[in-house]
Amino acid sequence: MQSLRSELHIVGICGSLRKHSHNLGLLRAFEQELPDNIKFTLADISEIPFFNEDREQPYPEAVLKLKETLDSADALVISSPEYNLSYTGVLKNALEWVSRRSLQTKLAGKPVALIGAAAIGVGVSQSHLRDVMFALNMKVINRPIVQVGYTREKFDSEGNLKDNVTRDLLVQLKNALIDAIVT
Ligand SMILES: Cc1cc2nc3c(=O)[nH]c(=O)nc-3n(C[C@H](O)[C@H](O)[C@H](O)COP(=O)(O)O)c2cc1C
Repeated sequence: MQSLRSELHIVGICGSLRKHSHNLGLLRAFEQELPDNIKFTLADISEIPFFNEDREQPYPEAVLKLKETLDSADALVISSPEYNLSYTGVLKNALEWVSRRSLQTKLAGKPVALIGAAAIGVGVSQSHLRDVMFALNMKVINRPIVQVGYTREKFDSEGNLKDNVTRDLLVQLKNALIDAIVT
């Protein structure tokens, strides 16, 4: 059992690059619920090039930076919208890079919480993302399910979460994620 160290670190990845993204807002709300002794970092996937096996040696700087950020994490939280009944291409592209064996990103066994918000819902996209977490051998937190649909009423114009039911679910998920780190 790992003791609750003061330097626990959770890294968030957002599947949307939009400035006022609802998914970014969800990650901000998640971060706001963390205790002071847990550090939160938002990983930057905006500069990651399209995956290309010809570009693996050497790995692009943005990919090495992402690997470094993920390696320093005790757990991840991934927030993605649904695009055409799947999760987003930018997120898939980033996951493809960090999945490469020669990069040796420390993902296997790491706890990961999946959250998401989309105009109608994220049930299908989250299910696809869960399959990829299986491929990466990550430890998905199964409950609570955080899938935010009909987002128009739940976020303000800058992407900040207004919905207290969702916030309560994020608190429960945060607790489950921390439990998964320390047990
Ligand atoms: C290419 C594209 C496909 C989309 N497909 C879906 C979909 O399958 N289901 C859904 O609920 N919303 C869909 N939407 C709407 C997004 O969920 C909505 O734009 C959402 O706010 C994007 O997340 P963000 O606010 O974090 O950027 C789609 C949007 C785009 C741009």
